[in-house]
Amino acid sequence: MKRTHYCGDLNATHIGQTVTIMGWVNKQRDLNKFIFIVLRDRTGTVQAVADENADTYQAAKAIRGEFVVAITGEVIARTPQNVNPTMSTGEIEINVHELRILSESDVPPFQVADENVAIDTRLKYRYIDLRRPEMQKIFKLRHDAAQSFRRFLSDEGFLEIETPLLINSSPEGARDYLVPSRTHNGSFYALPQSPQQLKQILMVSGFDKYFQIARCFRDEDLRADRQPEFTQVDIEMSFVDEADIMAMTERMMKRVMKETLNVDITAPFPCITWHEAMERFGTDKPDTRFGMELCNISEEIQGLGVDFQVFANALEAGGSVRAINAEGCAAMPRKQIDALVDLAKTHKAKGLAWITLPEDGSIKSTISKFFSDEQLRRISDKVGAKAGDLILICADENKVVFEALGAVRNAAAKWKNIVPQGYNFLWVTKFPLLEWVEEEQRFFAAHHPFTSPLEEDEPLLQASPKDVRARAYDLVLNGFELGGGSIRIHRRELQNKMFDVLGFTKESAEEGFGYFLKALSYGTPPHGGIALGFDRLIMLLTNADSLREVIAFPKVKDASCPMTNAPNDVSALQLEELGLKNA
Ligand code: AMO
Ligand code: AMP
Repeated sequence: MKRTHYCGDLNATHIGQTVTIMGWVNKQRDLNKFIFIVLRDRTGTVQAVADENADTYQAAKAIRGEFVVAITGEVIARTPQNVNPTMSTGEIEINVHELRILSESDVPPFQVADENVAIDTRLKYRYIDLRRPEMQKIFKLRHDAAQSFRRFLSDEGFLEIETPLLINSSPEGARDYLVPSRTHNGSFYALPQSPQQLKQILMVSGFDKYFQIARCFRDEDLRADRQPEFTQVDIEMSFVDEADIMAMTERMMKRVMKETLNVDITAPFPCITWHEAMERFGTDKPDTRFGMELCNISEEIQGLGVDFQVFANALEAGGSVRAINAEGCAAMPRKQIDALVDLAKTHKAKGLAWITLPEDGSIKSTISKFFSDEQLRRISDKVGAKAGDLILICADENKVVFEALGAVRNAAAKWKNIVPQGYNFLWVTKFPLLEWVEEEQRFFAAHHPFTSPLEEDEPLLQASPKDVRARAYDLVLNGFELGGGSIRIHRRELQNKMFDVLGFTKESAEEGFGYFLKALSYGTPPHGGIALGFDRLIMLLTNADSLREVIAFPKVKDASCPMTNAPNDVSALQLEELGLKNA
C-alpha cells in the first residue's frame, strides 16, 4: 500500500475518491455493527469506518490506540446528523476497503489527547508527547522561523558558516561543558557558549557578513527561559555601526514575524538607554505592553522630614525610595499583597511598604505609624495615584530597589490581567561596559570582553571603569531578552587595555585569549554583531511558558534528559582511554 493523502487534508472535495492514509490510531470505537477508527498523522485526524461485512472487520477489531495502520477506502459524505463541526475533516469519513496493521503499540503511558500529564512523564515519553497536535504545530512554526531567518539573511548577502563544537575553554564566560581528549590525556575541549570569538575571526578572514543557526552550551542553572543547550541565530558584520545592525535586525524580525505568524510589526523599534530602562521599569528587559512605571520619591520623602529609619537609612547610604502605582489594584487581597512583599524579598529587598486608596476615599498603609494621612496623600499624589489604586514602595540601594520593583511591577500587572496580547519589541542600548563583582573584588565584562566602549567614554576606562558605557544593545520582546550584541573592539591596544581593566596580566590574557589577540593584530575590520535566542523567540511566538515546550528533547531542572537518561555512566575502558582513570 502507498499513501496517497494525509489525514488532515481530506475534505468534501475528495468524496467518491479511493484514498490510502497511514498514521496512528487516535481512537477506536467498536459498536459491533460498525468499528470507527480515528486516524492521526501530523496534519490532523480523519474518521474511517469498517462495517461488519467488510473483509477487514477482524483487523479493525484488533487495533488499539497508537497502533500504526494503513487504510485504503472510499471517501464518503457523513450523514448530516453525523457531521462533526469540531473536526476539519468532520464532513466526511472513509469507508474502509483494506486495513493493514503496520505496527502494534503497547498501552501508552498516557493518552495523546490528555492535556494534564505531569511534565516528567511527558518528557520521559517525549515521542508520544510530541504526537500531540499542539506540539506538532510548535515544531512546524520553529521550522518555518528557521527557514525564514535563513532566507532573509541569505537574501541580504550573509554566508552561513559552521564553526566547531569542540573548541578551547576560555576564561570569563559562564561555566563550560568540557569534553576530555583521548589524544591529549589530561586536556579538554570545551563546547562553545557561543561562537563569539570564532565569528569575529571570520570577520578578520574577510567574510564580511556571517550567520549561523548555532548550538550553544552553558553549564548554568536551568530556568523556564534558560536551557543548558540552546540555539542562537548568530550574526556578525564588518564595516558597520550600531544603527546598521539594529536596522538589519528590524528588517529581519519584520520578515520572520510576517512569514511565520502573518503578523505585521512596526519598525524602527523604540529604543531606550539602559539607564532609562532601569529608572522607568527597574529592569533592562522591560515589558512595555503596560505602564505602571517606577517613580523616584526620594526627594518627596526627604521633604516630608519624617523619622522613618527604613527610608532614611536607604537614602543616607546613597540608595533611593521608589514606588509604583498599581492602578486599580486597591482591592488586591491581603494574601496577594503578601505575595508581592515576598517576591520583593526574594530580590533582596528588606521589605515592601504599601499604601491603598480604597474607592471610599480613605487611605490605608503599612507605614501609617510613621506618616500622617496627609503625608501619605502627598506621596500618592507624587506617583499620580487616585482612588482605587495601590502604591508599592521600596527603599534600598538602587540595584535592589530596581530589581525588586521590576519584579513586583510584572507580578502586579499579571494579577490585574492588564497585559495585552501583542509583540512589543524594544532596543535597550548603552549598557554599562563593566560590572563590579564583590566576591572576586574585580570588574567583569557585562556583555563580554570584546565589546567596545563608547568612544566618548574610552578615557574613563582606567580612571572610572564603572562609568564606562558599552556599544552594546539588547533586543527585548515582551519582557524577555531576545537577543544581544555589540560593536566589537577591533584594535589590539584597546583589547589589551580591556583585559588589563578586567585584571588580566599580559601573560594571563595571552594564555586565555592568545590566538584571538594574535588574529586581531593581522588586519581587523571594524565589526559588530548580534545573537538572537532562537528558542526564546519560538517560546514567545507560541505563548509557551517554558523553553522546554519548544525544544524537541529538552533537559530538566538538574540538566538531565528524562528520555535518554543523559548524563550517564561510561565504561572503565572509556575512562581509561581518556586518561580519567587508571586501569
Ligand atoms: P548572549 O549571551 O546575550 O550573547 O546570548 C544571546 C541570546 O541567546 C539567548 N540565550 C539563551 N537562550 C536559552 N537558554 C540560555 N541558557 C541562553 N543564554 C542566552 C538569549 C540571549 O539574548 N555572543 C553573544 C552575542 C553577540 O555579542 O553577538 C552572546 O552569546 O536570548
Ligand atoms: P517595620 O518598622 O519594620 O515594621 O516596617 C514598617 C513597614 O515598612 C512594613 O510594611 C515593611 O514592609 C516596610 N518596609 C521595611 N523595609 C522596607 C524597605 N526596605 N522598603 C520599603 N518598605 C519597607
